[in-house]
Amino acid sequence: MNNNKYPNLTSPITLGKVTFRNRIFSAPMGATDITADCCPGPRTQGFYELRAKGGAAAVTVSELVVHPDTDGSHMLHLDLETVGCLAAHTFVADAIRRHGAVPSIELSHSGQYAGTYMSDKNKKASLNQWGPSDGTRPDGRPVKALSKEQIADIVKTYGEKAALCKRAGYEMIMVHAGHGWLLHQFLSPYLNHRTDEYGGSLENRVRIVREVLASVRNAVGPDFPIEVRLSGSELFDGGYGIEDGIKIAQAVEEFVDLIHVSAGSYQFGFFNTTPPMFDEHGVNVWLAAEIKKHVKKPVATIGALSDPEQMERIIAEGKADVVYMGRQLLADPFHPQKVMAGKEDRIVKCLRCYTCMAERPVTFTRRCAVNPLIGREIEGMEVVPAPKSKKVMVVGAGVAGLKAAVTAAQRGHKVILCEKSDRVGGILKSEQAISFKYEMYELGVVLERQAKDEGVEIRLNTTVTPEYVEKEGVDALILAVGSTPIVPPIPGIDSDNVIIVNDYYLNKDKVSDSVVVLGGGLAGCECAIHLGMEGKKVELVEMRDTLAADCNIRQRPILMRKVAEFSTAHTEYVGQKITADGVVCKDKEGNEVLVPGKTVICALGQRSNRADVDALRRCAPFVREVGDCVRPANITKAIYEAYHAALDI
Ligand SMILES: Cc1cc2nc3c(=O)[nH]c(=O)nc-3n(C[C@H](O)[C@H](O)[C@H](O)COP(=O)(O)O)c2cc1C
Ligand code: SF4
Repeated sequence: MNNNKYPNLTSPITLGKVTFRNRIFSAPMGATDITADCCPGPRTQGFYELRAKGGAAAVTVSELVVHPDTDGSHMLHLDLETVGCLAAHTFVADAIRRHGAVPSIELSHSGQYAGTYMSDKNKKASLNQWGPSDGTRPDGRPVKALSKEQIADIVKTYGEKAALCKRAGYEMIMVHAGHGWLLHQFLSPYLNHRTDEYGGSLENRVRIVREVLASVRNAVGPDFPIEVRLSGSELFDGGYGIEDGIKIAQAVEEFVDLIHVSAGSYQFGFFNTTPPMFDEHGVNVWLAAEIKKHVKKPVATIGALSDPEQMERIIAEGKADVVYMGRQLLADPFHPQKVMAGKEDRIVKCLRCYTCMAERPVTFTRRCAVNPLIGREIEGMEVVPAPKSKKVMVVGAGVAGLKAAVTAAQRGHKVILCEKSDRVGGILKSEQAISFKYEMYELGVVLERQAKDEGVEIRLNTTVTPEYVEKEGVDALILAVGSTPIVPPIPGIDSDNVIIVNDYYLNKDKVSDSVVVLGGGLAGCECAIHLGMEGKKVELVEMRDTLAADCNIRQRPILMRKVAEFSTAHTEYVGQKITADGVVCKDKEGNEVLVPGKTVICALGQRSNRADVDALRRCAPFVREVGDCVRPANITKAIYEAYHAALDI
């Protein structure tokens, strides 16, 4: 039954002659799991299939390289010129279609950013990077201007590749003309300095995009949906703004069925394209809304969207006709299904932590902090019932304990979840006070709901001892007893003006207008940013020479920008004493310096609760330790370990 709460979001839309079951489309997200010869592999298929199964109306397969001769982004881009590749694409398209979604594929050319994701840096150095104009990339590599003959060949090839994609079974084509890749490079006055008919005026800069779209249209016929992905604005000085974004959309609309309005450019990082946790939800919707006012064709929006109510409003208010999600459908591929079924309070929200983006260049795999299945879908998309139902006790109801309890219960086990405090959630509870980390707090809330749905018996205020376990007579014990904040014996640490970062949410009102955050790891940096955003004067103290060394490579640059914006940071400062006026530190020259602040927030890391583990580790036939009690780390590790521990019972 359709969920009446979201009548617009859940209503079908027809583009060309294809009808899509709702307005929620799955965005392209990296051909990370393709084979070494650039074909979709079994993991690719599993990844896209799960998105379709989760209820998205269209599932976009990402980045098929159109013209390998001038675009050497191999290793992470699909390439239809590999023998046998068409069949692999057919299997992917079939896998998407069999769950009622429309299979779509993104045609792309990286232009002067060819090789961006290549693992083989030597090969990358030998690549030609072709762009609209001669120049030099920010990494120093030379860029050569494409000749008119090369442009003509690229245009022709777009059509040829589109025809092959149609033959493979894709039912929509997305032409990528945004995010700083080749077609966008032509659109950008910052990068396009040509003096021929492909440069200069906007009419000239948009010419190649029109030619490409005409070539694709010619290849696929009149009724086949074509979508163009644009950056509505480049969002940097010297780039084009929304006024040109509108004109570009108007110039291409005759060829397409859907105008997909994204934002930003690779040139200055993907921060506008893939909005960080510090940005509001739907931060780029205004671009789509502006463009929609000036075009007749349907418009799609994207960027930090996850809340169904907001998405419903976007469509109801005529700001866009389709909402795309990227990361949210990694976090919970079943988001659309849950919206349709009125179970939106069971949606696991994306944390915008960038783990997924950071994993790609580091390990060349997919990973999501909150979804242990991502990139591993072929290893099993279902939580399969256990052959025999067992009695399972989970000790500790933080994120790891909750996830283990939910998964074990989904397998048909009888699960008792014991928590020594009066609430579940563990460290996640403390995130409710940090505005940009609210989704982390919500993760605990949703997992608690899921645990109740699955019949987990939650026992609060319960300290588990060996005798307690023995009395219950459990078959399996999962130890998720977490970690404790490190509180060093610095003079003054017990004073009333000191708050442990995990308890900040309980003591918000006690925080004065000037604060020293002691400890510049990820938690300390985030707390400093939050307090700075609240208008407080914040000093951040770190004994090492690096702030947030525990932050992933994608998140770190933006975190550092925010730290600089909202606090004054002191590295290689060692706290000696806490007074009513701040923290007396030793700098690296050994000088004593007072870092001023009336309140001190202590964020010096966590220590595993090993004693609790040691007391219980032999109390059941099956015992597994998961999460912070093994090693304090992050949500990604806690969720992954917990899920798999429960599968092993
Ligand atoms: C891991 C990852 C890979 C991505 N790869 C692509 C891609 O191959 N092609 C593309 O056009 N956009 C890519 N994007 C951008 C997304 O399609 C989307 O525009 C962006 O993530 C913003 O949407 P979101 O806030 O819903 O995640 C990628 C994003 C992520 C997180
Ligand atoms: S890894 Fe983080 S940012 Fe990426 S989808 Fe998962 S929760 Fe969202």
